[in-house]
Amino acid sequence: MRKNIVAGNWKMNTTVPEGVELAKAVNEAVANANGIKCDVVIGVPFTHLTAVKQVIDINKVGLAAENCADHNSGAYTGEVSAPMVASTGANYVILGHSERRGYYNETAQMLKTKVDLALEAGLKVIFCCGESLEEREAGKVEDIIKAEISESLFHLTTEQWSNIVIAYEPIWAIGTGKTATSDQAEEVHAFIRGLVAQQYGQQVADDTTILYGGSCKPSNAPELFAKPDIDGGLIGGASLKAADFMGIVTAF
Ligand code: 13P
Repeated sequence: MRKNIVAGNWKMNTTVPEGVELAKAVNEAVANANGIKCDVVIGVPFTHLTAVKQVIDINKVGLAAENCADHNSGAYTGEVSAPMVASTGANYVILGHSERRGYYNETAQMLKTKVDLALEAGLKVIFCCGESLEEREAGKVEDIIKAEISESLFHLTTEQWSNIVIAYEPIWAIGTGKTATSDQAEEVHAFIRGLVAQQYGQQVADDTTILYGGSCKPSNAPELFAKPDIDGGLIGGASLKAADFMGIVTAF
């Protein structure tokens, strides 16, 4: 059966010393908590990976980069490749976040390449998809989600798919305090699971972890996570305080 996961996405926040302190606090809280019913992952800036890896127990707290390059090495000044991320001991990478798609013009084709290189490097991929408010109001949610997922992921084999986690993040709910209702989120999660079932079969779809992201916090996590197709969360703002993040981790 599929795993529940709560993953933090720190985005461009914290200095290295601050990040190390936050990671230590999360690691300690996870170690001391009883009966956590999900896997816990923290997504941190590239600069933090090596230092954070040293203060966490990777068997209890997974470590994600927030992006990787669409090349493995070479003359790409400022880029960080999937093998470099993997060499820090990180085991996940977040790809396709709407902030990357929107602000840095990441295309489906580019993301397809990034996904391939990440999997080749042995990383698990948390792949984000989601519609804007304008797209939702125009009734295009399913078209957008289908295009984002199929264009960057549906070339993968079933074996590769086992290292993919999907995160549904409606853009209008990110950092806005406006959460999708649990029914709105469940509707899209069920749609995504249906797409996966069409492509890879029902068993693979049932084994796929689908996270919700967008203003998720301790107060709304229990209702979201109670939905049958919501298997956890990708947490932005609330992952920057260990107590808030743990409030979500323990929401299952
Ligand atoms: P917030 O939780 O801050 O809305 O961010 C969600 C997100 O973008 C996680 O990737």
